[in-house]
Amino acid sequence: GDFHLVKRVPANNLCVLFLCAPVVTILSRSHADRNVYPSAGVLFVHVLEREHFKGEFPPYPKPGDSSNDPITFNTNLMGYPDRPGWLRYIQRTSHSDGVLYGSPTAEHVGKATIIEITAYNRRTFETARHNLVINIMSTEDYPLPYQAEFFIKNMNVEEMLASEVLGDFLGAVKNVWQPERLNAINITSALDRGGRVPLPINNLKEGVYVMVGADVQFSSCLREVENPHNQLRCSQEMEPVISCDKKFRAQFDIDWCKINLVDITKVVTIHSNRPDPGTGVLPDIGEYNPPSESLKSRDFFADFLITLAVPSAVAMVLFTILGYSMCCRREGVDKRNMQTPDIQLVHHSSIQKSTKELRSMSKNREISWPLSTLPVFSQSGEVVPPIHPDNYETTSMPLMQTQT
Ligand SMILES: *[C@@H]1O[C@H](CO)[C@@H](O)[C@H](O)[C@H]1NC(C)=O
Repeated sequence: GDFHLVKRVPANNLCVLFLCAPVVTILSRSHADRNVYPSAGVLFVHVLEREHFKGEFPPYPKPGDSSNDPITFNTNLMGYPDRPGWLRYIQRTSHSDGVLYGSPTAEHVGKATIIEITAYNRRTFETARHNLVINIMSTEDYPLPYQAEFFIKNMNVEEMLASEVLGDFLGAVKNVWQPERLNAINITSALDRGGRVPLPINNLKEGVYVMVGADVQFSSCLREVENPHNQLRCSQEMEPVISCDKKFRAQFDIDWCKINLVDITKVVTIHSNRPDPGTGVLPDIGEYNPPSESLKSRDFFADFLITLAVPSAVAMVLFTILGYSMCCRREGVDKRNMQTPDIQLVHHSSIQKSTKELRSMSKNREISWPLSTLPVFSQSGEVVPPIHPDNYETTSMPLMQTQT
């Protein structure tokens, strides 16, 4: 990169060399593209080496042990926030290398996939960026028809991705299968298949699934697990007896009960009991009709009439009737007196008179004979007219009639 760009500088007439120098360094940094050419249907592994990125960070003024800086990586498809679906990434700790891996398929052939790799120095917080251009090549023998998936219990996915470990494993498989061509197709951490994070004891590992493809029929050794005796042992959670297990045993602890043999030329018999995920599109249930924007206002007049006006009207009627009969239909003392027989009135007024006399007697004890002692009717049978209350002074007069 650098040499190529420095040669280009004199071509730019407006640019003095020392002014352009920083630009050149930036260009050389961001354009340090790397091309890789993986094949479709074959496992692709690309290691992001800490050592390689260490020299890329701008110098940091403060002293410190730069040889052991924690470094993490961010990888994404250029112009997008994440990687393409087939490409996965793992970095166990910031002191270990990162690994990009995955299995491109035939549909990815032809288009260059540009992956932006950003390295972060976690001590100085400097970053460096590289582009990785993945040119996926088609292979005429794709895919290999006989595929076997092994579950290796004593490995983590990033350990398995190391080329020498994977090479050892493929060598062992080749030994027991004897194919012409053999490729690793896919590697999946057991954690991605519903496995559990192991306890941090005894150096337990997560486990990893490795899919390999070959061009010849499965060997008898790979099929040994299918015999009834081994099936029974598997169902009882015991290790099956596999004659070729010793070829792996030194390095790889294989769970033979979980081996999955797929002949893609025949009916696909993947032992999967996952439900069909479907197309992800809901069935058409016709057009959606939202409610109209101009909603008709509701008429509450009838409710108003029933709840307020009717009771008020009834109340008004009652008020009028009561008011009329209480104010306008009162007939008064005159009418009462007219309707009462005279004799009763006389009786009544004499009682009233007597009451008043008694009251006044309490003021004036000199009156010896109260009027009440007089007979209501005189001897002659003449009706004594009722004494009007206005004639109050009469009480002070001597009321005694002289007895004859
Ligand atoms: C590889 O494995 C992953 C995870 O199990 C899966 O999603 C992907 O489809 C596999 N790729 C191929 C090419 O089989």
